[in-house]
Amino acid sequence: MALRPILVVGNPVLRQKAKRVSQFDRNLQRLIGDMIETMRAAPGVGLAGPQIGVPLRLAVIEVDETITIIINPEIVKRSGEVELDEGCLSVPGFWGKLHRSEKVTVKARNRDGREVRVSADGLLAQALQHEIDHLDGMLYIDRMPSLDDLQRSEPVRKREADARRQEPEPVE
Ligand code: NI
Repeated sequence: MALRPILVVGNPVLRQKAKRVSQFDRNLQRLIGDMIETMRAAPGVGLAGPQIGVPLRLAVIEVDETITIIINPEIVKRSGEVELDEGCLSVPGFWGKLHRSEKVTVKARNRDGREVRVSADGLLAQALQHEIDHLDGMLYIDRMPSLDDLQRSEPVRKREADARRQEPEPVE
């Protein structure tokens, strides 16, 4: 397995409509392995093919230590609406608020090519919708009412430095 570079906004591959997967072969298994490794290293909750420059309809998601692999996914049912905070590995350094369905049911193929259905709420529902958007060339910032509301997330290094400053001074 290998880490793949993650493309960032501005790269045209992120804006393409990805093509359906038709071969459930060894190359696909290797690609899925690379995607899981790349998602974990980032670290991120999900990663879609176009984000590593592979314009195919597949994504990997990891929520509560459970991996969900969706290939040629379709949302077949949705209900409710929630306002969520969201970010994306392809839009580093920012997050924003947007509305998504509260619950979704997704029909997809698993890594063996068998049809599966995933019904989810919470973070998994959010990730399923976010990753399926990637397959249609859409980013979460496209769903925000205004980009003026995009928030800058503090670099990790600064957050760590702040946390250290807040630690009590050692006595002696
Ligand atoms: Ni994303």
